[in-house]
Amino acid sequence: MTFKTSFARQLADGAGIVDLMSDLGEALNVNPDLLFLGGGNPARIDAVEAILASHLHAIAEDADAIHQMLGVYQSPLGSERLRAALAAYFQSLGWPVTEANIALTNGSQSAFFMLFNLFADGVDQRQILLPWVPEYLGYQDQVLHPGVFRTMRPVIRCEGDNRFEYGCDFDALELSGVTAMCVSSPANPSGKVLSTEEYQRLGALADAAGIPLILDAAYGAPFPGIVFSGTRPAWQTNRIFVLSLSKLGLPGARTGVVVADEAVIEALGSVNTVMSLASGNLGPTLLLSLLQAGTLDILCEQHVLPFYASRRRFALDCLARHLEGIPHRVHRADGAFFLWLWLPELSVPSRVLYERLKARNVLVMDGAHFFFDQAESWSHAQQCLRLTYCAEPQVFERAIEILAQELHAISD
Ligand SMILES: Cc1ncc(COP(=O)(O)O)c(C=O)c1O
Repeated sequence: MTFKTSFARQLADGAGIVDLMSDLGEALNVNPDLLFLGGGNPARIDAVEAILASHLHAIAEDADAIHQMLGVYQSPLGSERLRAALAAYFQSLGWPVTEANIALTNGSQSAFFMLFNLFADGVDQRQILLPWVPEYLGYQDQVLHPGVFRTMRPVIRCEGDNRFEYGCDFDALELSGVTAMCVSSPANPSGKVLSTEEYQRLGALADAAGIPLILDAAYGAPFPGIVFSGTRPAWQTNRIFVLSLSKLGLPGARTGVVVADEAVIEALGSVNTVMSLASGNLGPTLLLSLLQAGTLDILCEQHVLPFYASRRRFALDCLARHLEGIPHRVHRADGAFFLWLWLPELSVPSRVLYERLKARNVLVMDGAHFFFDQAESWSHAQQCLRLTYCAEPQVFERAIEILAQELHAISD
């Protein structure tokens, strides 16, 4: 069937995120023997699953709680009890919020869909600025009109022989026509965490222009808190923080949390109700239970963060061992669970390397997807791969061995 609408063109026509999720589904559900360093699924952490299971059991044994979870539609902004508990939790971190600043959504992906389309439609410019790419590819096809994203190339700072970091090219930053800025921190794909200075400068520019700064904290603080170094900013007015339960270990619960000024929250509640009628209850019920028991921070600080810190150390060491002699740089991995590998002398496009690896049962992410409209015109955009280090260490190591073999074969 051929659909002729702009909606279909934008959303139904093989968006990059759909390929990514198909690869992920194939690896996790159909062909588990793949060496999977692709998608953004969080790792399986036994201690986290055990804590979540115990909370679920307690809920399941309480007739009223199970009725509230399974038998009742949520209000447009999400469970009042959870929003009040979240407000108290955020206040304890010094954030100036009440429940009127909080909305719950079906995953943070759908929160971005609503936010982007609330703020920008490409008419009279009305664009979303991504102050640097590479940036989360899941934003790309979320807007109902073409030309909504304005992207900038970052400055590249090399460190030592094998490290580098992207930074904002503040001199080139131009906000006319821009109606919101959006940054993921920790960033998917690069693992970059905004420095305090970068965060403050972007915020000051947003305030001066009267536009919001959207901070995608899907991996960030306070939960899941996969931040090894760098800023853990506090919410303030004119910021929109988008949090998620997914990377805590609950991607199946599809729960996003938006913290924003009241007018934004009200608009979100309205759009969410039109689109979904109501958000699901599973994630919110679990989150409320974790907050009431004081377990949320324990999960993040004692289980999630140390787990990824250890995997990250292993992954960096593994790359250093296997890629010795191959020109490469890894982005500072300050947060999230990816290594972003730059191969400055790669003689084929990263897409070809991705295909060669796939043919050998290794699935990575071709970096080109994350460069939005800069992918074709910038050679750097054809030289990067994203490697998830959620896989078991032996799986990661075997995949990197094969990557090294392919890189040697390509350069021979
Ligand atoms: C940076 C970033 N933002 C948002 C999302 C969406 O996550 P979810 O809809 O599961 O909350 C993801 C998922 O991988 C992500 O990596």
